[in-house]
Amino acid sequence: MTKPKTTDGPRNLGGLREGEVAVALPARFDASLYYIGRIHTPWKRREDCPKNPRETPAECTIVLDPRWAGGLQGLETVSHVVVLYWMDRARRDLVLQAPHHYPERRGTFALRSPVRPNPIAVSVAQLVRIEGNKLTVVGLDCVDGTPLLDLKPYFASTDSVPDASVGWHAGRKR
Ligand SMILES: C[S@@+](CC[C@H](N)C(=O)[O-])C[C@H]1O[C@@H](n2cnc3c(N)ncnc32)[C@H](O)[C@@H]1O
Repeated sequence: MTKPKTTDGPRNLGGLREGEVAVALPARFDASLYYIGRIHTPWKRREDCPKNPRETPAECTIVLDPRWAGGLQGLETVSHVVVLYWMDRARRDLVLQAPHHYPERRGTFALRSPVRPNPIAVSVAQLVRIEGNKLTVVGLDCVDGTPLLDLKPYFASTDSVPDASVGWHAGRKR
């Protein structure tokens, strides 16, 4: 077993914040995937992005690889799309994190941070229009050029859980 790296203590180790813990990544991948397009947003740097998709009214453009454009048939009828994307600038080895806007240390799987073993992000975006292989949406939080993994219709009837809660976040605005 590889000893986890930690920054418990004052010094900074390998770009970790104090209290963060990194582990050795597995020696090989278990699967591969296709980027099916790119997401174009107004934000060039991570620090300029909204922290979550509800923070911004900005229109973003999803450009699907034309080979997959046939798969959009019927999607024009939906109001909201589940967008899955690949946070390609995130490190993948942290199990405990202290995001700068939530300074308490928490487990990776208790957070929506892009830093995770498989840096897959999810947002429910409002679909404004589809033109060919381009979708205009509102409700994304990623840097310009972020790879797209998948699109699915959002079903309020099955996806919405209005009384869901996150205890550690209770009382915060965002
Ligand atoms: C907190 S995450 C939430 C992502 C998604 N809505 C989710 O819940 O899975 C959003 C942040 O990820 C960072 N980010 C955006 N694009 C990124 C990318 N391509 N690679 C790594 N980090 C990115 C930005 O700091 C942004 O504010």
